[in-house]
Amino acid sequence: MRTVRVGLLGCGIVGGGVVELLKQHRADFEARLGATIEIAKVAVRKEDKERITTIDPALLTTDVNEVVQMEGLDVLVEVMGGLHPAYECIKAALERGVSVVTANKMLLAERGPELLEIARAKSADLAFEAAVGGGIPVIRVFRDSLASDHVEKLAGIVNGTCNFVLTRMRDDGASFAEALADAQARGYAEADPTLDVDGHDAAHKLVVLAMLAFGAEVDHAHVPTEGIRGLEPIDHAFAARFGYAIKHLAIGRDRGDEIELRVHPALVRRETPLANVSGVLNAVALEGRALGPLLLSGRGAGAFPTAVSVVADILDVAQGRLSGHQGSLVRGIRLAKRPLASMDSVRTRYYLRFPVRDEPGVLSTLTGKLGERGVSIEQMVQDGHSDDGKPVQVVLTTHEAVEKNIREALAAIESQSFSLGKTQVLRIEQP
Ligand code: NDP
Ligand code: HSE
Repeated sequence: MRTVRVGLLGCGIVGGGVVELLKQHRADFEARLGATIEIAKVAVRKEDKERITTIDPALLTTDVNEVVQMEGLDVLVEVMGGLHPAYECIKAALERGVSVVTANKMLLAERGPELLEIARAKSADLAFEAAVGGGIPVIRVFRDSLASDHVEKLAGIVNGTCNFVLTRMRDDGASFAEALADAQARGYAEADPTLDVDGHDAAHKLVVLAMLAFGAEVDHAHVPTEGIRGLEPIDHAFAARFGYAIKHLAIGRDRGDEIELRVHPALVRRETPLANVSGVLNAVALEGRALGPLLLSGRGAGAFPTAVSVVADILDVAQGRLSGHQGSLVRGIRLAKRPLASMDSVRTRYYLRFPVRDEPGVLSTLTGKLGERGVSIEQMVQDGHSDDGKPVQVVLTTHEAVEKNIREALAAIESQSFSLGKTQVLRIEQP
């Protein structure tokens, strides 16, 4: 029986899951491929570290080049993370005509178009199902299943750590630090968890989705990105009072002349599917021009869900190599530089929470400054009252408005003497 030789870069949370799945389903995979998948070499940082799987010590190396330059390498699997040396390793393998499977959304957001181009030129595959949505088959759906349609918009909960932290804070009253530590202990967070909680991981994933959904090559540094650190328990409480849940969303829309991409927390109506995606679950909702709505949901992080996606890619890539069709996974991905819409031009509804002094005229000034800029109010509440100068919270939701007008109104409001702090601005979305 033919052997498919796999070189593994990294054997941490995801790599460990990959090794385990390849062991557990070995017979099934042999029957499917008519070939044996053999892990031929594994690069790690520390050979003597305890792992979630056992590996023959003879396969371990700390030199990534031993894996990348290995004789007879069929598939390179990169699950180290980070930009370097992942970029150099993947590039070198593709240039040798070796197909690559990676879970590295940061690298794809940064260098994806270039790597895809090399893969195409060398008739190699570059597969990255695990890069978005962990175990959910998202990439396949955008790349293959929707090749026959035009995606008009998408909205996703694409960071498991953020969703887990928000859920633990809301449902269990956990502090931000406790909830994040729990997500890290479960293997959901990035090695640098600020990538998760400050929204950058979701922005990387959105850029990857935009490549497939809109054929757009965009600079991830220009995607408006907000994380979840600024949310306070009081915002969850007000959101619930108005009938919403707060979710961290990645939103993409093809406006024709421009692409709208943005990442931020948002209020989502409690009865909608995305509002009920909790814990480490992820979901991507999209609207196809011909298809209409589609919702994909499942576990977005963790060793085994992610390994399911990586191993599915290994099988696809191996199949392509064995059948002489290597390179077919990247052939349909066509990219062009497309302009990004400015955040100022975004049109949506808003939740605004103003910490203000409790005195006459505050409400009329708030509504007046918003009204002058065409912002119409839907509901408004004031929480409690205060006669000692301490802030009270005035919260309102608006009808659809343009972000630029909201920002101008807030600047005018925050310069008033009754204003006792920054306004909490959350967008209200209908994914
Ligand atoms: P880990 O930190 O758990 O594992 C990284 C592995 O890479 C470790 O085995 C580490 O070695 C090895 N490694 C790192 N740098 C080097 C280097 N320079 N040379 C050799 N080996 C190196 O990360 P994860 O498994 O969580 O994540 C891996 C990738 O998968 C990242 O790109 C991440 O974004 C992505 N991903 C992660 C998901 C998750 O749920 N965790 C989900 C989806 C994608 P050692 O073990 O010796 O430290
Ligand atoms: N840190 C990422 C998350 C892993 O929490 O979603 C999955 O990509």
